[in-house]
Amino acid sequence: MNDSQLTSLLKEMTLHEKVGQLVQLATPFFKGASDQGQITGPMQEMGLSHEDIENTGSVLGASGAKETIAIQRKHLEDNRLGIPLLFMSDIVHGFRTIFPVPLAIGCSWDLDLAEKSAALAAKEAAVSGVHVTFAPMVDLSREPRWGRVMESTGEDTYLNSEFARSFVRGFQGDLQQDAYKVASCVKHFAAYGAPEGGRDYNTVDMSEWMLRESYLPAYKAALDEGCEMVMTAFNILNGVPSTGNKWLMRELLRDEWNFDGALISDWGAVKELIPHGVAQDEKEAALQTLRAGVDIEMMMSCYFKHASQLVEEGLLEESTIDEAVLRILRLKNKLGLFENPYREADEADEKNFILTPEHRQAARELAGKSVVLLKNEQALPLSNKKKVALIGPFAHNTDILGPWSWGGSAEDTITLDAGMKQYLNADYLLVSEGSGIETGTEQQLQEAMQIASKGEVIVAALGEHSDMSGEAGSRADIRIPEIQLELLKQLKSLGKPVIAVLFNGRPLDVREIIEHADAVLEAWYPGTEGGNAVADILFGDVNPSGKLSMSFPYSVGQVPVYYNQFNTGRPKDAPDAQIRFVSQYLDIPNEALFPFGYGLSYSTYHYSEMSLSTEQITPTEKLTVHVDIKNTGSMAGEEIVQLYIRDLVGEVVRPLKELKDFTKVTLQPGETTTVEFTIDESQLRYYHTDLDYKSDSGEFEVFVGPNSRDVQSRKFKLGNV
Ligand code: BGC
Repeated sequence: MNDSQLTSLLKEMTLHEKVGQLVQLATPFFKGASDQGQITGPMQEMGLSHEDIENTGSVLGASGAKETIAIQRKHLEDNRLGIPLLFMSDIVHGFRTIFPVPLAIGCSWDLDLAEKSAALAAKEAAVSGVHVTFAPMVDLSREPRWGRVMESTGEDTYLNSEFARSFVRGFQGDLQQDAYKVASCVKHFAAYGAPEGGRDYNTVDMSEWMLRESYLPAYKAALDEGCEMVMTAFNILNGVPSTGNKWLMRELLRDEWNFDGALISDWGAVKELIPHGVAQDEKEAALQTLRAGVDIEMMMSCYFKHASQLVEEGLLEESTIDEAVLRILRLKNKLGLFENPYREADEADEKNFILTPEHRQAARELAGKSVVLLKNEQALPLSNKKKVALIGPFAHNTDILGPWSWGGSAEDTITLDAGMKQYLNADYLLVSEGSGIETGTEQQLQEAMQIASKGEVIVAALGEHSDMSGEAGSRADIRIPEIQLELLKQLKSLGKPVIAVLFNGRPLDVREIIEHADAVLEAWYPGTEGGNAVADILFGDVNPSGKLSMSFPYSVGQVPVYYNQFNTGRPKDAPDAQIRFVSQYLDIPNEALFPFGYGLSYSTYHYSEMSLSTEQITPTEKLTVHVDIKNTGSMAGEEIVQLYIRDLVGEVVRPLKELKDFTKVTLQPGETTTVEFTIDESQLRYYHTDLDYKSDSGEFEVFVGPNSRDVQSRKFKLGNV
């Protein structure tokens, strides 16, 4: 259809039919549905009529060609104008083939593989009838207590923005040309990753300056890449719920950023304006969110019950509804649904394209690159000539897919013991649980100790079960449960090398683990191929290369903890600092235990002294930074070389370091390569007090290193701005 045909269609619609397009309901409401989908919010009686359902515009959570085709077919029989449904789902890090959780993908710093993972997920989803994915989630977070940190790629604005682009390219690409793509919906707008105290759904209060500097760029990056939709956030932002926030959605998103795609609320978030205390009732909530620009209400009936009435009473212009409907019709049209309402949904293709060896291989590769080696006192890699005792609640556990993996299944998941069996003869692998994740018995412990005593080396597979992170998965104590720490200590007391492998969804306080293990691998939730990927690393087939995309705090008392802090007026390391009156904790260090960008390898890399092509540039010139990296170890490996910049004097304070670029180099043992970074004026801009985004003349420091802490630096000047 062309735009004028869509407008004609709009003219034929009754007000009630229009309002229907603005509503999204979960699968169980539809005729033909067999599955419940993933339920993340209230499902109370919504008082909807058959007519309401027949006019509904989109479905949440349906998947599987059989089901989506059945629902669409029935809907088209019932809907007066034959307007097809849009099927939307959370395809966050894979559909049936589950890739590592996004926080782990962040640690790969591998934008191409991230894009590929999204493209493969999109293909699996598309053949099962999904049209839109609620991804990427790009909420920047400095909050390891917040369970949803596992859904984003971490704490850094630049890295998150780059990943946001990759994910949108992968999921959505060219939607109109490629039927194996799904439209992307970036979420959660905005700043959902900064809840007070790390408690989910909690208050966010931050200056517009900080919002623009750090939190907004990743959403913008997704939109610049063409992302079709935006989802609102549950949190309030500076006193106004994001879902009813006119400034955020009308002024910033629509007017300033020119976003003209569809804006959807999060689950039930329109009605949540009532408990937030800014709307008296559902009618007022609907009025506020429609005025603020929320086109689709997800899973509640405030729009259905009140939107028509608001227009009839003259409280809302019908043109507001029309604009919203047109955006939704346009998306349906872009997806080609008026011509082919089933798009690529196809049961035969599901068999051919889902969970193929190619998809599994990509998941294994990405998981291998996401694992971060935190410590290694010559305990890794393992030899297949030694007996390994694999102990712990994650030794033989399929709960390694992580939250948002409702399409994945336990049967398809490679557990750690299964992965290790590929490397060891059966009598060289001894397995015992040792404890559950949160509780355990003396008998479990004793059995495990007996088994462990027969091994020459111990692998302790520990962590959090997947409900301990994800939505509504906030924790105040970010250690692994006591019972597992006790197990680890007991294992260590046997005097054998102990390797801890961690499966979890957030940066943890790992002090006790570091103390009681000779090597520590952060495996995150590595996905369907997790056991294989971790075994590849344990036995040295894959050399670890992941680097943390989020700082690991020394203790929860430091949170929020992040590398790109400001200096304060009394920095701890100032040469003239008084012992007491400086910005410090009396009982713990200021620094994270493992900083942003940190990760070890089985190789070592030597960085030569860096050099600059010039020490002064103008806004039209560039400078290049050179550094030689040599693999001084005995294994081939990949090193992620990072470039940070500090503006030494700004109109407003500037972070001590900001990531501005990075590159991955692959080096054979003994091989050297020259890495070159280019710096120009555009990388030196920041938001001034008047919120102008620009650079100033002055002095800068540029840092290069293997992480945000262990860097070398040089200074340069920007002149003539
Ligand atoms: C989550 C969203 C998700 C939605 C639909 C909500 O509870 O916050 O991220 O897209 O549910 O499943």
